[in-house]
Amino acid sequence: MSTILAWETSCDETAVAIMRGDELLASEVASQTALHERYGGVVPEVASRNHLLHAPRLLRSALKSAGISLADVDCFAATLGPGLATSLMIGTSIAKGLAIALRKPYLAINHLEGHLLSPFFGLAGAIESNVSLLVSGGHTLLVKVSDVNAYQVLGRTLDDAAGEAFDKVAKMLGLTYPGGPEIERRARVGNPRRFEFPRSMLDSGDHNFSFSGLKTAVRYLLAKLSEEERRREGTIGDVCASFQRVAIDVLVRKTITAAKASHVELVTLSGGVSCNTELGTQLSAACEHAGLRFRAAPKFLATDNAAMIAFTASLRSERGLVSGVTEEINPNLALV
Ligand code: KG4
Ligand code: ZN
Repeated sequence: MSTILAWETSCDETAVAIMRGDELLASEVASQTALHERYGGVVPEVASRNHLLHAPRLLRSALKSAGISLADVDCFAATLGPGLATSLMIGTSIAKGLAIALRKPYLAINHLEGHLLSPFFGLAGAIESNVSLLVSGGHTLLVKVSDVNAYQVLGRTLDDAAGEAFDKVAKMLGLTYPGGPEIERRARVGNPRRFEFPRSMLDSGDHNFSFSGLKTAVRYLLAKLSEEERRREGTIGDVCASFQRVAIDVLVRKTITAAKASHVELVTLSGGVSCNTELGTQLSAACEHAGLRFRAAPKFLATDNAAMIAFTASLRSERGLVSGVTEEINPNLALV
């Protein structure tokens, strides 16, 4: 059974994971959120310097919890894109260095594929045909997944990603970065029907999304509210709940339409925004209503992590989908 050690450093999370066969032996993530919070977003140079700083400690800790040494690793993997160039360089350079030094194969993994396959984690490598909603800070994709490496992008956002819209609205409201979890927390006590926002592209006749109109509508609303109203207890929660309701409504309705049009029986959900409990609940209910099964990525694989990269590497190597150390990073890498 082969042992894979994978790195994920596409943005501001430094992560390493070790898998043996189907078993996850270790998964370490060092988040830099607190560092970037003061800038309201990720600063590339700060991110790459911190990847370098954290990597040796994370590697030691992952090997220790897996109870193995570097010599026991059969294959090294890393995210080659999409992401920040200076961040991608760190994880790929470490993985390539280890692979060369230990004379082991190196696998370059697409970060989006990592998210996309994460709902199948723990299912012994079987990938059932499905329509997948991948919602993260950088991407919003509807993908028909037929098997590993057999993907058809059905739709994508034409402007902001769903997570980006959550983050930008949170910033307008003066909430902490990243905004998604904070909006969800405030929305729990807010009135989702107090403000009406546009549901862009709902009837566009394709499977694409647009979130910039929704974000701008929130901006206009905030500009219209009096200072007193903005400060009134409950107003921010009502804005969060109303925004979240519309964003989720569009994601859910378009996913169900795409699944029906693709004649699949399964819908999957992945990416950082899939942490949103309301999104999972609504999508699961809509699938049940439409006679579709639903499977979300486990919570610990929703935001950026290396376990999804190790998992994807193991699925690809089982199928003979290999790459080499000459493979360069690609910050703009597409899924297909
Ligand atoms: O997948 P991810 O960790 O990184 C990317 O590949 O982009 O996704 C991060 C995104 C951020 O935009 C964050 O605000 C969003 O996921 N997010 C959420 C929640 N938790 C994380 N959005 C909405 N509700 C949440 N609970
Ligand atoms: Zn991601």
